[in-house]
Formats: sequence, C-alpha cells, structure tokens
Amino acid sequence: MSEIFEFLVKRRSASILVDPKPKREELEQILNLAGTVPDHGQLRPYRFVVVEGEARARFGEALVDAADAHRPEKLEDRMKAKIAAKAFAAPLQILLVYSPVASDKIHAWEQMASASCTGYAAVLGAIALGYGAVWKSFAYDPGPLLQGLLSLTSEEKFLGWVNIGTEKDKETQRAEREREPLDLRRYAQFLS
Ligand SMILES: Cc1cc2nc3c(=O)[nH]c(=O)nc-3n(C[C@H](O)[C@H](O)[C@H](O)COP(=O)(O)O)c2cc1C
Repeated sequence: MSEIFEFLVKRRSASILVDPKPKREELEQILNLAGTVPDHGQLRPYRFVVVEGEARARFGEALVDAADAHRPEKLEDRMKAKIAAKAFAAPLQILLVYSPVASDKIHAWEQMASASCTGYAAVLGAIALGYGAVWKSFAYDPGPLLQGLLSLTSEEKFLGWVNIGTEKDKETQRAEREREPLDLRRYAQFLS
C-alpha cells in the first residue's frame, strides 16, 4: 500500500482535542486544501468562518440560541451549558458554510456536494499536518445569533464545523477504534 493510501484508509476522527492548535500558517494551508475540492465550474460555493479563543464563547451562545429558537419549552441551564460546551470541545473550529452561486448550468445539488467535500478536506488537511480533527454538526437550524455570527444569507446553509486540535491519548484512541472494511457485496456493484 502506498504511504498516501495508507494515510487515507487509516484516517480516524478524533474525540478529545486540546492545545496546541494549528498555527496561523497551518490553518491557512488547511483552508487552502479545502479550496481544492472537486468543484464543477470552479464556483467555490462555500466559505469558512474560523472560531478560536474568546470567539468560542460567542459560538457557544449562538448554538444555545439556535436550540432555544427551535424548542417549544425553554432549555434548562444544565442543557444550555452542555450545548455551549460544544464550542470548547477543541481549541479551533472551522465553521462550514454552503454558499451557492447563481448558475444556469451547475445545479444547486452539485454545488452542495462540492461544499460538503470541504469538510472532509479540512479534516484530512489537519490530520496530515499532525493534528486531530472531527466534523461536527447540530440538530437545529441556525437561530438569529448563529445567523449573525456566520453572516448567513437566506440562500446559504450551515454545514456544521470541523473541530481541530491536538489529539489527546492518540494511540490509545486509535487502537480501540479499528474500522470494519466496507462490505463490497452490499455497497458496491461491478458492471462490465
Ligand atoms: C455533516 C456531518 C456531521 C457530523 N456531525 C457529527 C456530530 O455532530 N457528532 C459526531 O459525533 N459525529 C458527527 N459526524 C461524524 C464524525 O465526523 C465522524 O465521521 C464519525 O465520528 C466517524 O469517525 P471516523 O471519521 O473516524 O470514521 C458528522 C459527520 C458529517 C459528515
């Protein structure tokens, strides 16, 4: 197996992420890699909002606000704290925004597919630079605070975020999480 293939096939998402986080130059490399995803018409139907440091408190509040806006009953404080803590699960987060571009030729689904690839690319880039990463999402659509944080337009969609940091107890976590190979009889067809 080539080294690059082995890297790809053995990639695992991280669970516990701590400092140090990528340096600014590394972060830009990760974002640039995300900008290399397959993209019909080179429309770049995506953008990113990077959250780190103090800004994580704002992101946490925005997640609580989104949950609050979509629930009939008010959230208990304990639940609010649990949701807000999602923003502190890693020292750095890349928030992914699907941002479609008007086009007669390239359908919205193609643009969404392209934007979705950026999450995987960001995960791969972070891991390739020696960090841990995991793509996370939220059960509720953005409320006013998250819309504000992301400057989200009505056409755009929040695709979740990629947590990045240094993986704690990396070797133990990995050893415990061997991946089952894909059952090709179920998930693939070979036509010839
Ligand atoms: C759009 C999207 C959203 C996700 N949201 C979450 C999430 O909120 N929580 C979670 O534990 N995993 C989430 N995952 C899955 C993880 O990113 C990861 O793929 C999963 O834990 C399997 O780990 P692996 O990448 O090592 O196979 C999401 C994946 C995608 C593509």
